[in-house]
Amino acid sequence: MSTCFNFFTSSIGRKIVVAVTGLLLFLFCLVHLGGNMLIFVGQEAFNDYAYKLHHMLHGALIWIARVGLLGLAAAHVLATVSLVIQNKTAREPYHFQKTVRATLTSKLMPLSGLMVLFFIIFHILHFTVRLDALGTNDPSYQLDGGYFDAWQMVVDGFANHWVSIIYLISVFLLGLHLKHGFASLFQTLGLSSNKTRKHFEVASILLSLLIFVGFASIPVLVGFVGLYR
Ligand code: HEM
Repeated sequence: MSTCFNFFTSSIGRKIVVAVTGLLLFLFCLVHLGGNMLIFVGQEAFNDYAYKLHHMLHGALIWIARVGLLGLAAAHVLATVSLVIQNKTAREPYHFQKTVRATLTSKLMPLSGLMVLFFIIFHILHFTVRLDALGTNDPSYQLDGGYFDAWQMVVDGFANHWVSIIYLISVFLLGLHLKHGFASLFQTLGLSSNKTRKHFEVASILLSLLIFVGFASIPVLVGFVGLYR
């Protein structure tokens, strides 16, 4: 019990919490991106995927995923905030970045993280809660047999160019956040050394580009190019 307590109160323990929760949140992004790419496969494929997501394990799976995601996001933010506070108040501050250079991206980490958090709230209100004001709460999306026309909802959602711009800026900031996040993660988990650092930097750039380009392709192609209009 006290070992566990010591782990969470130590700087390195909390740094590991930030790294592991960050990695799991990234895995969620990858899975979500994979599912979203079905938009380009077609209406039926995307709606079928959304239906299965909502009905697996008698509807319990989506709630397990939601609670898990909320827990991960809360642990990620709380551990980061407590490290920042400790860093500011300690006489001998804990150095976040001993070897990863303090680049512009690293300095922007709190801001990009906060903006991604705001985006997730907006995104949930947009496509999950379907707030009337955002125009995605049309009763005609409800199809026969308990199906929901999530594909049409997304296509209509991005028809509003302001919404597409918000998504583009947000996924750009998410990419920036991930780029530096990966570099720190590899270091915290002890994978990055002087010899391998360059390889991990390249891997960080490629993975964050994959997330940015993948998610951005939807507002660009569906919203601005008007692929399905
Ligand atoms: C252009 C990009 C995106 C599209 C088209 C998209 C699409 C969707 C849709 C349609 C839903 C509703 C799922 C449902 O209830 O059936 C959803 C939920 C969600 N998305 Fe995205 N998404 C995008 C980007 C992102 C990004 C970048 C993140 C995270 C950083 C994210 C995180 C979430 C979360 C947390 C939920 C809520 C899951 C739930 O509780 O139902 N999405 N997304």
